[in-house]
Amino acid sequence: MHNDSIPVITIDGPGGSGKGTLSRLLAKRLGWHWLDSGAIYRLTAQAALRNGVDLGDIPALVQQARTLDASFGESADGEASVFLQGEDVTAQLRTEEAGEAASRIAACPEVRDALLQRQRDFRQAPGLVADGRDMGTVVFPDAALKLFLTASIEERAERRYKQLKAQGFDISIDALFREISARDERDMNRSVSPLRPAEDAVIIDSSAMSIDEMRQRALDLAREKGLVA
Ligand code: C5P
Repeated sequence: MHNDSIPVITIDGPGGSGKGTLSRLLAKRLGWHWLDSGAIYRLTAQAALRNGVDLGDIPALVQQARTLDASFGESADGEASVFLQGEDVTAQLRTEEAGEAASRIAACPEVRDALLQRQRDFRQAPGLVADGRDMGTVVFPDAALKLFLTASIEERAERRYKQLKAQGFDISIDALFREISARDERDMNRSVSPLRPAEDAVIIDSSAMSIDEMRQRALDLAREKGLVA
């Protein structure tokens, strides 16, 4: 069960804004838990595809979301790993196709509802850093610190390109640019939990920032809130 007194830092923003890297670094630095909520949407879509469920079949998707057999851990080299029915699916989940499928099912209010408590259950002592699109607006509206990361679409496509290339994926930067734009468009314009900053979020444009600068800025803000010594 979640506990309202446990501190949460939310980091929302579009893909490639640096929120994944930043949230993980921050969780490590603080010794807090980490929620990669995008992975939960990606896993749900993946489970549906595996089981031959049509991504337009809402009752079947809700059933997948409710019964999702997912777990999170680390590989031997310390990388975050995601498991579906015990199988390591981390690499499959990173593809843009998996992101696209996740974004399609994420536009469905019933699916979001079915995944809400699962995300809140990550709120465990001593604290949680939560990464997503609606962490500060819907899932943890009472978070102690809310960050919203942005970056230009060119910079985000470039970052994703380098990331996927390093993981051995063969992709074109133009295709990636188009896919990211389409995903942004869907995530920002859906009627339920659209991607937008919470009213009390601190907006950080990471376009010209290094990872270390982002980490420093986030730690300064956490310090101002008394979340870190
Ligand atoms: O962050 P990531 O790229 O893994 O997210 C994949 C997709 O899941 C997003 O494009 C978005 O549609 C959806 N998502 C969401 N709400 C979240 C996290 C992810 O709708 N909190």
